[in-house]
Amino acid sequence: MKRVADIAAIERRIDVRPIIKWAGGKAQLLAVLASLLPPREQIRRYFEPFVGGAALFFALQHPCSTLSDTNAELINLYTVVRDAPDALIAALRAHAAAHDAPHYYAVRALAPGSLTAVERAARLIYLNKTCYNGLYRVNSRGQFNVPIGRHKSLTICDEPNLRAASAALRPARLALGDYEAVLADAGPGDFVYFDPPYHPSSTTAVFTSYTDRPFDAREQERLARAFRRLHAAGCHLMQSNSDTPLIRELYASFRIERVTANRAINSRADRRGPVTELVILNYAADGTLIAG
Ligand SMILES: C[S@@+](CC[C@H](N)C(=O)[O-])C[C@H]1O[C@@H](n2cnc3c(N)ncnc32)[C@H](O)[C@@H]1O
Repeated sequence: MKRVADIAAIERRIDVRPIIKWAGGKAQLLAVLASLLPPREQIRRYFEPFVGGAALFFALQHPCSTLSDTNAELINLYTVVRDAPDALIAALRAHAAAHDAPHYYAVRALAPGSLTAVERAARLIYLNKTCYNGLYRVNSRGQFNVPIGRHKSLTICDEPNLRAASAALRPARLALGDYEAVLADAGPGDFVYFDPPYHPSSTTAVFTSYTDRPFDAREQERLARAFRRLHAAGCHLMQSNSDTPLIRELYASFRIERVTANRAINSRADRRGPVTELVILNYAADGTLIAG
């Protein structure tokens, strides 16, 4: 019954949608991920170190959460949503009023470093809402290079959702950086949800360039070492990744569940649709840590 109660608690909290659409976003998998969480009373602190669109954080809204990512635009966005929602909403209204192709390309050409924090956050939301496929992608120089999309209806400034997100983020700690640094002091009572860039498989075109640094097989191996270290430190751990031989081998001693996700973001229409992926866990259904 407790598992049912956990899921019901999460469903009650789904009143904030992710602020931006992010490749690899977990919206379609939320119910499955919720059913695999450790019992809530065992979670003292929540960590999402590859935060992206933060779908699981917004669903859980754990009061003691640390959200982090190596993408500076993303961490700036959440910081501004949390600390300056009024200024952000005003900036987004200005974008909505000015929106057309010349405005889009002028905003895209702006260097984030030349803008204020609020302007940077508004630029990211504006480009994310109006770009082709809502796909965040940067080139090797870290520049956002997606063309304008064709949208029949657009909500550039979703004020109620931004205000709800701001309230949800108020107690959260936000950090820019690599997952290992953020998790350095994690231990018993801490629950970490890892949603790294996936290991590419032959059947799915997996999107791995959120930033200008590749997340290759060596990075997957480094992540698996960190996973084992955090397991030994007594953390509860859950990871999403693709179903490939490398990932199955790296986590062979842990609990591996196959789940089905609906991948909406893919530049090739024939590669959208359901794909099977993995959820790796270091605990049993009752929250007991496994031998690993
Ligand atoms: C799959 S996305 C996360 C999806 C997200 N959890 C969601 O629900 O929308 C992966 C994220 O990992 C970040 N990332 C890549 N390498 C990283 C690293 N070494 N440490 C922390 N974050 C990293 C990327 O910037 C990207 O935002």
